[in-house]
Amino acid sequence: MAMGASIRQIHPVFVGEVSGIDVTRPLSADDVKAIEAGMDRYAVLVFHEQQLTDEQQMAFTLSFGAIEDARGGNVTKPEDRRLAVGMNDVSNLGRDGQPLDRESRVRLFNLGNMLWHSDSSFRAIPAKYSILSARVVNPVGGNTEFADMRAAYDELDVATKTQIEDLVCEHSLMYSRGSLGMLDYSDEERAMFRPVRQRLVRTHPVTGRRSLYLASHAGAIVGMPMPEARILLRDLTEHATQPRFVYAHVWRRWDLVIWDNRQVMHRARRYDETQPRDMRRTTVAGEAPTTAQIGAA
Ligand SMILES: [Fe+2]
Repeated sequence: MAMGASIRQIHPVFVGEVSGIDVTRPLSADDVKAIEAGMDRYAVLVFHEQQLTDEQQMAFTLSFGAIEDARGGNVTKPEDRRLAVGMNDVSNLGRDGQPLDRESRVRLFNLGNMLWHSDSSFRAIPAKYSILSARVVNPVGGNTEFADMRAAYDELDVATKTQIEDLVCEHSLMYSRGSLGMLDYSDEERAMFRPVRQRLVRTHPVTGRRSLYLASHAGAIVGMPMPEARILLRDLTEHATQPRFVYAHVWRRWDLVIWDNRQVMHRARRYDETQPRDMRRTTVAGEAPTTAQIGAA
């Protein structure tokens, strides 16, 4: 760490602000270790003034593992993509660089990012880290909020911890979007968005800390009647997103924020959609499923 990386905790239970690292340059082994140790401890790390290109963002991402294959995670047609493969477009912009129309299906689908979620929990092997770079900050709103699912787990009562210990949820983009009234999907989309199974309680592979693994993508619990499952998931989500567990990030241009999807949930807040908001995400692939999947039908 030639520049002397340091991390300062900026929320009572999680979130570190990093200084002394330039993410546009290749990281030293010590830098990578410092960031990974910071992620294990704080679950969210904030870097300021990181003026990077997409290529530099992807190179930085590869320091922490493979880049997740983004296919199957949205309704954007390949010909409408604005960014290169490997980049997730979390903007409100079309290929022409202009804000999407109000009725745009891509826009409406992306509004699901304003529900609490963990990235790619709808994949059998869910995401490890997400890395979000602010290229154009919207003038009104658009904060990203994070909730510490370890602190939320710790504060559950013993009876609830016992009840949920071995529960397995079903996650699908159709559950999160369905809760917003988006119920029409093509057969191809239905196959792509087929539910996957995830444990409700996760144990961090390095720290051993337990956390709630919740997301608006979770819409069922194996072996539990649907309404009972939905009520339990809502109650747990309400518990886990109380203000004392939540950090709101107010974006500045060229902020870079990394979060561990295994330990936190997040959501975007509403903003002025007539104005651009250009946020670009890369995703570090997870290493393993959280539970066995349903066998081929
Ligand atoms: Fe997200």
